[in-house]
Amino acid sequence: MKKDRVLSGMQPTGKLHLGNYVGALENWVKLQDEGYQNFHMVADWHTLTVDYEDTRQIHPNTLDVVIDWLCAGIDPEKSVVFVQSRVKEHAELHLLFSMLITVPRLQRNPTLKERIKDLHLGKNISYGHLGYPVLQAADILIYKADYVPVGEDQMPHIELTREIARRFNYLYGNLFPEPEGLVTPFSRMPGLDGRKMSKSLGNTILLSDPPEVLTQKVMSAFTDPEKIRLGDPGHPEICVVFAYHRNFNQPEIPEIERDCRNGKLGCVACKKNLIQKLIAFLEPWGEKRRYYEDRMDEIEGIIEAGIEEARQVARATMDEVRETMKIG
Ligand code: TRP
Repeated sequence: MKKDRVLSGMQPTGKLHLGNYVGALENWVKLQDEGYQNFHMVADWHTLTVDYEDTRQIHPNTLDVVIDWLCAGIDPEKSVVFVQSRVKEHAELHLLFSMLITVPRLQRNPTLKERIKDLHLGKNISYGHLGYPVLQAADILIYKADYVPVGEDQMPHIELTREIARRFNYLYGNLFPEPEGLVTPFSRMPGLDGRKMSKSLGNTILLSDPPEVLTQKVMSAFTDPEKIRLGDPGHPEICVVFAYHRNFNQPEIPEIERDCRNGKLGCVACKKNLIQKLIAFLEPWGEKRRYYEDRMDEIEGIIEAGIEEARQVARATMDEVRETMKIG
């Protein structure tokens, strides 16, 4: 029986943080272990939508991302790990898809509107940036993926991918499945300051942070401002440290919640407890990372093998696309 296929993608932002793990990676590993056929792609072309002036970090960041994937348990024996820009067929499919979608349709994309606002782009958005969900549709459909694990913000792009698949199938002949987005449940992971955890906001805990750095970061994390002394009753629902306990210290949640609210548990003790749990979780990570960092050839080898495998699938799809469209 043909296994259902999963395509997931992440931009090469460098060393990954806890938010990347809880929001995405943890789920990827679960899907791998449930027996789906997984393609994991580093979306390096997508990085150019914003960071196109200085491209020197893209390759080293790609390697850092792949190392963190492996540390999380992505197994290159089971899953294909590859880099978008090395499979040129994505670019050809992107070009063809770009004819099937209107500019106003792309401008209606809520995720893009938010990015334009956050980055203060106004009308200065590039042609490539406007079309980046079309490239994403090519990434997904070139592997005929059945499922795409994504954060909530990426769902509009999955919807667009489905529209493009339908339009192609209707115009030229039935070729593409309509993929489904798998939204990671409970994926909100606040940063140290309470905003969304994100590299650009400088509020992350890295999966590779050593214990001293981790300790110092957790000690500085945002807690309930109304809880000043030990006896003050706290509000765990607004506390970053509590959110982390929820993800990394589940069994103690009822007790922590109760004792924070009734003033028995102080923030320092609560943070120290969390630090212990996080160190236990991240310690093997550090060891694995050191292992891979000493074996960069192995990493390059895994990526090269993944690229070869991805290419075979992408080439076969493009043969079908050209045949179906009677061009090329
Ligand atoms: N746009 C995604 C992001 O910014 C990355 C991405 C590119 C992606 N291509 C993809 C995700 C294909 C899933 C499938 O996070």
